[in-house]
Amino acid sequence: MASDQRIQTPEQASLTKGGDPLWYKDAVIYQLHVKGFRDSTRDGYGDFNGLIEKLDYIQSLGVTALWLLPFYPSPLRDDGYDIADYRAINPRYGTMKDFRRFVKAAHDRDIRVITELVINHTSDQHAWFQAARRAPPGSQKRNYYVWSDSDEKYKGARIIFTDSEKSNWTWDPVAKQYFWHRFFYHQPDLNFDNRNVRRAVLKIMKYWLDMGVDGLRLDAVPYLIERDGTNCENLPETHQVLKEMRAEMDAHYSGRLFLAEANQWPIDVRPYFGDGDECQMAFHFPLMPRMYMALRREDATPIIDILRQTPEIPQSCQWAIFLRNHDELTLEMVSDEERDYMYREYATDPLMRINVGIRRRLAPLLGNGRRQIELMNALLFTMPGTPVVYYGDEIGMGDNVYLGDRNGVRTPMQWTGDRNAGFSEADTAALYSPIISDPPYGYQSVNVEAQDRTSTSLLAWMRRVIKLRKQYKAFGRGTFEILPLANRKILAYLRQYQNEVILVVACLSRFSQAAELNLSRFAGSQLIELFGETPFPIITEMPYLLTFAPHGFYMFRIERPNVG
Ligand code: NOJ
Repeated sequence: MASDQRIQTPEQASLTKGGDPLWYKDAVIYQLHVKGFRDSTRDGYGDFNGLIEKLDYIQSLGVTALWLLPFYPSPLRDDGYDIADYRAINPRYGTMKDFRRFVKAAHDRDIRVITELVINHTSDQHAWFQAARRAPPGSQKRNYYVWSDSDEKYKGARIIFTDSEKSNWTWDPVAKQYFWHRFFYHQPDLNFDNRNVRRAVLKIMKYWLDMGVDGLRLDAVPYLIERDGTNCENLPETHQVLKEMRAEMDAHYSGRLFLAEANQWPIDVRPYFGDGDECQMAFHFPLMPRMYMALRREDATPIIDILRQTPEIPQSCQWAIFLRNHDELTLEMVSDEERDYMYREYATDPLMRINVGIRRRLAPLLGNGRRQIELMNALLFTMPGTPVVYYGDEIGMGDNVYLGDRNGVRTPMQWTGDRNAGFSEADTAALYSPIISDPPYGYQSVNVEAQDRTSTSLLAWMRRVIKLRKQYKAFGRGTFEILPLANRKILAYLRQYQNEVILVVACLSRFSQAAELNLSRFAGSQLIELFGETPFPIITEMPYLLTFAPHGFYMFRIERPNVG
């Protein structure tokens, strides 16, 4: 199909008028759960109409895209990643009409919408599974899922939810066979060797793209295909499935996005970009724990090492980078020694640990240190990739490690110091989750309203840094070069795009530091500090001396002097 015939809603057409199919490179993504944002119906659960009410806030933050966690009908035993119906909205969160209104309202504000395409598995409540378990073995219907008479197959596959699952096989008494699942035992994996499954998935994809959704996060993509004698991750056949999906998307739509969730080493994530014919974006999982490690060790080496190991990606592609999300801070992509270090430093209480990771939010991880929070965000907004901010972290929300699973980082958004934090007018006991109410993170003090009234608040700073990020394309599109320094407590890098040259220098130490940078190639140019537009001394052939307050950082523009 010719590109001018491809489907665009009117709002999407206006979004791309400015006209860039690579919009995701310059994006700032805000991740949220509809359930946790704002309840407009007093039932204790957030909903789409509540989210629409809060779009002004989202717009005021300056983010350009929203990533919504799953909002489909679901028994909610994996917070919605256990989907019972791919084509509907969980009634607690609203109706399809509400969803459409939301997409339009977001687009009217130039905010794009990224939703979840969870195709590795369904809920065991999905009609496909209910039909499969009753269908004769070997039939098309049964083969929507992966079955076996024994639990011995695919022994090379690791268990992901180590705290709750003992095997990737579960016996189904109705089918009288074992079914395969990489996650919870109630989440059977779909069988991508079945062409009907692949066709059904394409239809679901198009269903949401037709609705005007701009991007799809592809949940758990490394595990689509299983083969004996392998670890059942990242198999060539999995990439074939993704290429088919991308070809179908490109044939019918323009300006849309696949964002791969592949919690893997950079070298293994690289194929998810293909030759620019698979996913446009993929999360950079291994970078994240190394940012925390570098901070606590006061040594830039972990960050430098992982970025050096990160391969080039096609020009149209982009990493998604993040500090926290709705899951545990995963420690799968670190060595055993590094994992021990992270647990020791960031999860002293065993309650803070789950599976292979740490279930805490950004502010508590950083001891609520404002300087540390700003520093980590400064890195997030300037390192190569598109930043993803997890809702609530922009106001420094806390967590609740006493809630089960990963629910402690999924508590209601704190809007005000009023009843239920302004999240809901339901009875407090009816809320889907308790609100954080103990000092120092309790909603009485940590809330949007209070921070709106304080010019020095974290929220005010986040708005500034997001605005600043959007002023320079170099952050989203520029080259990345680490500047070698004698002082390992300082991390320095250049971002360059066309005639923009940005220098970022960050102090990972809790003490004051000094560093000398070799900037001689820019001799005669000037550094302009971006927050204050403050001119710094002219660069010469000599080492350039910078001093830092504890956890201080600079973002500079390197400006050539006006000649003549
Ligand atoms: C990845 C999601 O991020 C996580 O929340 C979920 O539990 C698993 N996929 C399994 O669905």
